Amino acid sequence: MNEMDVQNVEDGLLAPVYQKFPIEIFKGKDFTVWDKSGKEYLDFMGGYGVAIVGHCNPSVVKAINEQASRLMICHSSMYNEARAIFLRKILDVVPSQMGRVYMSNSGAEAVECALKVAKKYTGRKNIVAMTGSYHGKTFGALSATWNPKYRSSFEPLLPGFSFVPYADSSELEKSVTEETGAVIIEPIQGESGVLMPPEGYLREVRRICDDKGALLIFDEIQSGLGRSGRFWASEHSGVIPDIMCIAKGIAGGVPMGVTVARDDIMASFKLGDHTSTNGGNPLACAAATATLDFIVEKDLVNNAAKMGKLLSSGFSDMGKEHRIIRDSRGQGLMLALELRFEVKPLLMDALKKGLLLLYSGRNILRFLPPLTIGLAQVTRCLEILEEVISAEEKARFN
Ligand SMILES: Cc1ncc(COP(=O)(O)O)c(C=O)c1O
Repeated sequence: MNEMDVQNVEDGLLAPVYQKFPIEIFKGKDFTVWDKSGKEYLDFMGGYGVAIVGHCNPSVVKAINEQASRLMICHSSMYNEARAIFLRKILDVVPSQMGRVYMSNSGAEAVECALKVAKKYTGRKNIVAMTGSYHGKTFGALSATWNPKYRSSFEPLLPGFSFVPYADSSELEKSVTEETGAVIIEPIQGESGVLMPPEGYLREVRRICDDKGALLIFDEIQSGLGRSGRFWASEHSGVIPDIMCIAKGIAGGVPMGVTVARDDIMASFKLGDHTSTNGGNPLACAAATATLDFIVEKDLVNNAAKMGKLLSSGFSDMGKEHRIIRDSRGQGLMLALELRFEVKPLLMDALKKGLLLLYSGRNILRFLPPLTIGLAQVTRCLEILEEVISAEEKARFN
């Protein structure tokens, strides 16, 4: 199929729910992707934050090949070594209070499990979420997702969900009651433009949950696995949740969702309460074990912290030079550059120059590159940004 055919086929046959970039990606290696003509792109979108260990990471590919030639499918009603190895591995890297794991196939499913087990354990009906939150688009996850644009066509959503203003602990204190089963929060809000929790806020959220006997769910789907410069974004605040949701790059690009919780919480699920045919399949488990090993062995968490500092100081410098930049923020390699105008033309210019970026809303550029990037990639990204921002500024003000 030629390039136009692929675009026509997708545009004509795929459900029309994705904002498309006008490129067809053919192959990837580490932080680079190529289209069919051989044009190269530096991938700072990182597969929407999935390519944590880079595209086609050789250790992950090897693990997938080995597992694929042995066994890909083994329902969790039977035992399997790849699954057992992954269970030990994931519990090694989450806070020691976590004791049991549920495996699914996406971030939204990881959230579904968290919401259900919180209701089951507490026997309470209500869930409190934050304004600006994003937890996915299945009905449960969507009920905890704030943006009316995603919700309005599908109402009524699940009963018992309410939203409190993000970063306002006194409002949270009023909203969490003896009827609240859980508070769900992203330790760094991603979709809404990389919003950082103010100092002390997550500790206040923890205290309020404890006072009212509600569970605390951290959605680390975007912020976890080293992205923020710590293994879990929650570590920046020192707060330990009761339940954690993990997905995106956990299996190096193979779809997987993981929910971990305190043993007593997850043990409140009884036989058949929550299952998934493909959840915990050996292929995803083997890929996830290789991914976690790679993150630890290559110290990607520290690399994310270091490269993130370089990138964000480049953004701050640009902010001083260019009045179209309103703000830059984030931690590690979860960063945002907020402009005073729509970012779409800028995104397209960057694309032409070989830099693939992501947006948040209309006026925010989001950066979720692989955690494997080095100085050369940070420098190139800043160079291209400088070029496209200067050009945009000239076009607007000269
Ligand atoms: C914080 C957060 N939660 C949940 C999700 C949903 O994950 P998925 O798209 O895999 O269902 C996402 C996806 O971007 C996310 O960023």
